[in-house]
Amino acid sequence: MAIELPIALPDSLLSRLADFLASQVGLHFPRERWRDLERGIAAASRESGYAQAEAYIHWLLAAPLTQTQIESLACQLTVGETYFFRERRSLEILEQQILPELLRARAQTEKHVRIWSAGCCSGEEPYSIAMLLDRLIPDVEKWNLTILATDINPRFLRKAAQGVYGEWSFRDTPAWIRERYFAGREDGSYEIQPRIRRMVSFSYLNLADDAYPSLVNNTNAMDLILCRNVLMYFAQARATMVIDKLRRSLVDGGWLITSPAETSTVLFSAFTAVEFPGAILYRRMAASGLSTVAVRRQSPWYQGEAAAVHAPAPAAPAETGAFSVVRSALAPDMLHQAGGEQARQAEDADSRKHDDRETPLRKARTCADEGRLAEALEWCEKAIAADKLNPAHYYLLAAIEQERGQSEKAEHSLGRALYLEPDFALAHFALGNLCLSAGRRREAQRHFGNALTLLRACPANTLLPESDGLSAGRLLEIIASVQASMPRAHKEPAA
Ligand SMILES: C[S@@+](CC[C@H](N)C(=O)[O-])C[C@H]1O[C@@H](n2cnc3c(N)ncnc32)[C@H](O)[C@@H]1O
Repeated sequence: MAIELPIALPDSLLSRLADFLASQVGLHFPRERWRDLERGIAAASRESGYAQAEAYIHWLLAAPLTQTQIESLACQLTVGETYFFRERRSLEILEQQILPELLRARAQTEKHVRIWSAGCCSGEEPYSIAMLLDRLIPDVEKWNLTILATDINPRFLRKAAQGVYGEWSFRDTPAWIRERYFAGREDGSYEIQPRIRRMVSFSYLNLADDAYPSLVNNTNAMDLILCRNVLMYFAQARATMVIDKLRRSLVDGGWLITSPAETSTVLFSAFTAVEFPGAILYRRMAASGLSTVAVRRQSPWYQGEAAAVHAPAPAAPAETGAFSVVRSALAPDMLHQAGGEQARQAEDADSRKHDDRETPLRKARTCADEGRLAEALEWCEKAIAADKLNPAHYYLLAAIEQERGQSEKAEHSLGRALYLEPDFALAHFALGNLCLSAGRRREAQRHFGNALTLLRACPANTLLPESDGLSAGRLLEIIASVQASMPRAHKEPAA
């Protein structure tokens, strides 16, 4: 039996550190978890070259954390517990009710579905969703599917992107999943099929701190968000804030799935709670603001759709679009140039929708945020007609076109934006991402290089125009991480 060592760091220091981590990283360490905290912080201090954890903590506490410090802490202090088809009941409900209903509605309009696994760990959760969609959609290649998977721990994300797993990731997974979707490797691990791997886009996002919903990071207009076994690590105030932002990232009728251990009538009071046999899921409904609990009768699946006491309306067949891995960088936010996330929070999307004083640009943005792309396009065209020389208009147009799957048009619109404003760093970045997703890596590098030059010329905390409160420093880090993950371009013909 392993012998637990006594906690060596003083209580007062651990308490200060716990408060600091809660406010800066959103990681919650109540006293019962101080042993985990101590273990993680000891590892993080070694990684940062400190022989003494205490000295490392003092260094951390001395100033606001840098992104590098946050990532290093996240790697040591987060819990990587996950496996394929975990909490199977929720996934069965998805497979048997929610997704078929959504797919039926979308088959009539544009074939789009947008799903976000928030706190995806090493990828088992979003890949499970990709497998569900693969099983449900016979003509999957005709659909525009987005499965965005984000996490705060870059090591988990790297493992996820590789798609190679050991036995432990299948510990409570039906055997046929591994047989159908994985290939065994010589070393005994299993590699996910490339076509399933390509269905998921992984990226870094700190739920406690980063801006969302946002076109910048592709977290808008989601049909379904899975945020399971993540909220339990946040203090209540932080969890409340995260849940509110996740709600705003959903389209009307969109679903939030948490772990059964995380259900709460208080925390999810802005949602409609829908009770299925064996699980409660949360739904964003247009008029809900009160906790309306819709209870579905406990009936077995073979009896068809369960009845609802307050049956929620079926998901509106909202027209949504899918960004590819990198197109999330098409990042227009015409509304919140200076206030960033705070301004965004203060201005609830629901009330914006009904504001008659809104300009065509604001209306275009609101529609795009909510996934109503045809309307967004109409408003954007009106904005351009009123002011043809505004680069922001073309930037938003590019985002909408990209979301509609019209990459060439989007490139053209970004070209217009850059013609009007050559120093438009976000447009360079977006163009780089478009080139990258088209396989034109050298061209992509050129655009990233342009963006980097512009960003390095301004103070790191400068908020970028047309972004969701994104700072120049943060975009520098994002571009660096995109470049680091790029394959070498030596075989590509010169652009
Ligand atoms: C226990 S795992 C859950 C994985 C998966 N959702 C599941 O249920 O199997 C928790 C994940 O949340 C991530 N996480 C913790 N704090 C986070 C934050 N502030 N922002 C984003 N992800 C976070 C951790 O890195 C970890 O991968």
